[in-house]
Amino acid sequence: MTEHSPVTQTDAKPVKTMAMPDAQTVTEVTHWTDRLFSFRVTRPASLRFRSGEFVMIGLMGDPDPKTGKQKPLLRAYSIASPSWDEELEFYSIKVPDGPLTSRLQHIQPGDEIILRPKPVGTLVHDALLPGKRIWFFATGTGFAPFASLLRDPQTFEDYDEVIITHTCREVGELEYGRKLIEDIRQDELLNELIGAENLAKLRYYPTTTREESPKMGRITDLMRSGEVYRDLGVEPISPEHDRAMVCGNLAFNLEIKELLESYGLEEGANSDPKHYVVEKAFLD
Ligand code: A2P
Repeated sequence: MTEHSPVTQTDAKPVKTMAMPDAQTVTEVTHWTDRLFSFRVTRPASLRFRSGEFVMIGLMGDPDPKTGKQKPLLRAYSIASPSWDEELEFYSIKVPDGPLTSRLQHIQPGDEIILRPKPVGTLVHDALLPGKRIWFFATGTGFAPFASLLRDPQTFEDYDEVIITHTCREVGELEYGRKLIEDIRQDELLNELIGAENLAKLRYYPTTTREESPKMGRITDLMRSGEVYRDLGVEPISPEHDRAMVCGNLAFNLEIKELLESYGLEEGANSDPKHYVVEKAFLD
């Protein structure tokens, strides 16, 4: 993959009315690579959520051949936009033959999707005890909940330092996150809302595993070797100072969980806040 410029569709297209329950209208679609896209939809007026939570979204399935009835085809998607945004943003993989994403990847502005307005999830500030430094560990589309948390003023109020690591196979797969971090640093509204001195606390550590880039390797290996701490000039993770949120593929989540526990961190929950929390990046 050498071409990284995303393709954004914002032109108004004819609206397809599907007469769906909980329908929301697509306002923007951006294709980042042939495997990844993001999109924005209208936000239900009543929807309140905490940064890092997910909702069920989808499309109407094909009609049942016998009854002719259509059922909604829904999947969990982390909300990638901050809670103060008037629209909702999602970041998705395109799974070849995936029942939902094989169709969802073709949505265009003006189309409708189903969105069940019941946000839930573990990647929330309430599930962590107070600390000095927060680490967000993402692989692939696991970046999505952090795209929300990184635009939440609370993230910067609660911690002296905010570190986001993102490991992907190829350079092009980092682009959504890279651009978001760049936008956060430059955005006037965010600088006003979060404070330029608070935004200076943000550190970004992208790595690739299958294509050459300035920093290569799985984040778990870079933690074991101590390279990530040397690169960032920080002490290795400790339960005293560090808190972590993890979102990635299953194997990654399990491996980093073990690693965080080896540092003495314990897993928290909404009802029992501790040192770290984990959520899997949802796949089709
Ligand atoms: P790798 O290329 O070495 O498998 P995927 O696209 O399959 O979800 O993977 C996203 C990123 O997560 C890839 O860079 C992949 O590295 C990395 N990864 C996969 N499994 C693990 C793991 N157990 N620990 C750390 N990183 C992992």
